Amino acid sequence: MNYNNIILESKNFIATIIINRPKKLNALNIETISEINHALSTAEKDNNIRVVIITGAGDKAFIAGADISEFANFEKEKGYDLSLNGHQNLCDFIENLSKPVVAAINGFALGGGLELAMSCHMRLASDNAKMGLPEVSLGVIPGYGGTQRLPQLIGKGKAMELIMTGGMIDANNALSLGLVNHVVSKEELMETSIKIAMKILKNSPMAISSSIVAINANYKDGVNGYEVERREFSNCFQTRDFVEGTTAFLEKRKPNFN
Ligand code: COA
Repeated sequence: MNYNNIILESKNFIATIIINRPKKLNALNIETISEINHALSTAEKDNNIRVVIITGAGDKAFIAGADISEFANFEKEKGYDLSLNGHQNLCDFIENLSKPVVAAINGFALGGGLELAMSCHMRLASDNAKMGLPEVSLGVIPGYGGTQRLPQLIGKGKAMELIMTGGMIDANNALSLGLVNHVVSKEELMETSIKIAMKILKNSPMAISSSIVAINANYKDGVNGYEVERREFSNCFQTRDFVEGTTAFLEKRKPNFN
């Protein structure tokens, strides 16, 4: 598929999705969401991809939110569908991907951009990054999962403040709140993201997928995360990765999970 709004690159088992609408600060229109979904589906099926990094084109923005010009004249039903699409095809899709997804936040991550980042399995930010959920300034609320994932990451009180004030926080503030895992310089952002990806690549892809399922279970209504952990743990025992990992340990060599 030819993409109009993203660039998909892959090298050494790592796929990079670059949101590429720099003149619009990489704002997410419907077409961009569907292209991200397609790229992630492709990465998920490709045995030569084991980690995905998402970042923004240009030096100003990761993603400055959903494309306001696209939804400004929507009424209630279209608003619901917009939110459903953002949940199902973007944020829930990322969160439940069987391969780790890392957000490399290289500038503004606002509204839907921060919501996308929060659905990734981990977040790194460059020191120029600014984050926030400014939707209430537009007369709406976060609609791509932000009201749920922000309190999960930083706690209810801080999330209430950030959402109600619609303010932006800088990268170091985001780090102290636990919203991002690491802050590095702009120049080091991709290099550091790739370093983390390479550490992940040393480990069993099957066990990593199971970890994602088990950790996500903690945040799913009506699901007993401990039970999911037991199931995923026991499933590992029937995988070739388990045989390779344990055999390599006992033979005092490094495992080869490729
Ligand atoms: N949707 C659509 N277009 C957007 C956008 C968005 N979320 N964010 C930025 N853009 C566009 C601007 O309209 C502008 O387009 P133009 O050149 O055709 O006028 C272009 O991107 C550059 O943005 P600009 O506002 O000129 O840059 P800035 O440096 O002055 O301000 C921001 C940067 C991020 C503070 C500002 O763009 C902004 O507040 N964006 C909206 C953020 C938001 O509310 N997101 C949540 C949406 S639900």
